Amino acid sequence: MTAKIIDGKEFAARVRGQVAEHVTRLKNDHGITPGLAVVLVGEDPASQVYVRSKGKMTVEVGMKSVEHKMDADTSETDLLKVIDDLNNDPDIHGILCQLPLPKHLDEDLIINSISPAKDVDGFHISNVGLLGTGQKSMVPCTPLGCLMMLRDHHGSISGMDAVVIGRSNIVGKPMAQLLLNDSATVTIAHSRTKDLADVVRRADIVVAAVGRPEMVPGDWIKEGATVIDVGINRLDAPEKGEGKTKLVGDVHYESCAARAGAITPVPGGVGPMTIACLLANTVTACCRANGLDEPEGLTA
Ligand code: GUN
Repeated sequence: MTAKIIDGKEFAARVRGQVAEHVTRLKNDHGITPGLAVVLVGEDPASQVYVRSKGKMTVEVGMKSVEHKMDADTSETDLLKVIDDLNNDPDIHGILCQLPLPKHLDEDLIINSISPAKDVDGFHISNVGLLGTGQKSMVPCTPLGCLMMLRDHHGSISGMDAVVIGRSNIVGKPMAQLLLNDSATVTIAHSRTKDLADVVRRADIVVAAVGRPEMVPGDWIKEGATVIDVGINRLDAPEKGEGKTKLVGDVHYESCAARAGAITPVPGGVGPMTIACLLANTVTACCRANGLDEPEGLTA
């Protein structure tokens, strides 16, 4: 079987197009411009790249973008003050505090200081609880993007066997919850799982989110299964020239693509969907804050 490649770049562009249409409608019909604030503490190079990209795409879909860059030695009090001001700013509908935070800051405390209604990352304990009980919530962006691709490919995933490899709060756990809410039969596998190969071989849907390069080989994949690869790992690539690197996922692409029915590539799969879903969440938050109908197809 040759897998269909699920093109996340193209899908994300479509989602951003839908977001832009909603932004235009909010501006023209209601005089409202959705606003997203991103808080970056410190100089982590990867975080700086993400934040720049988020800001650029926020403006591209017609939303207001605000960036708060703070020194690595910012105190908890100062950071909480910035978040409090954003919580109370009526022009801001979404707030994201880029992770990881410097070690001296309590990540849980900071995340839970963001107003749940503006928590476009879906990390606040209220949103985690709402998602866990199948209620309307803000949904973490990467799992939301994976769900959109699965729904688009399968129509319905009800009754399918799904395995999520990885149990992080950002991806694994919310992903499992979303699959469960769509009536899949869900297994969460992790580093202590016994016979991981057997668990994965039973799955119609495999979501790999462990952060270990190419750890899932093709012979673990059931013929025709759908493989969603959340991993983004940088490896040395001497074959491309001295000092060159390449990005690989958590699955071994060639061998998995040879057995899967559909697969997301790395790069160009799940990655672009994350920011598209952040923008979608900001529009959703803006509509909810203003008592307006939510955009269809952009939420879980
Ligand atoms: N760092 C890596 N991924 C994420 C994310 O989805 N949200 C935030 N806030 N920080 C991150």
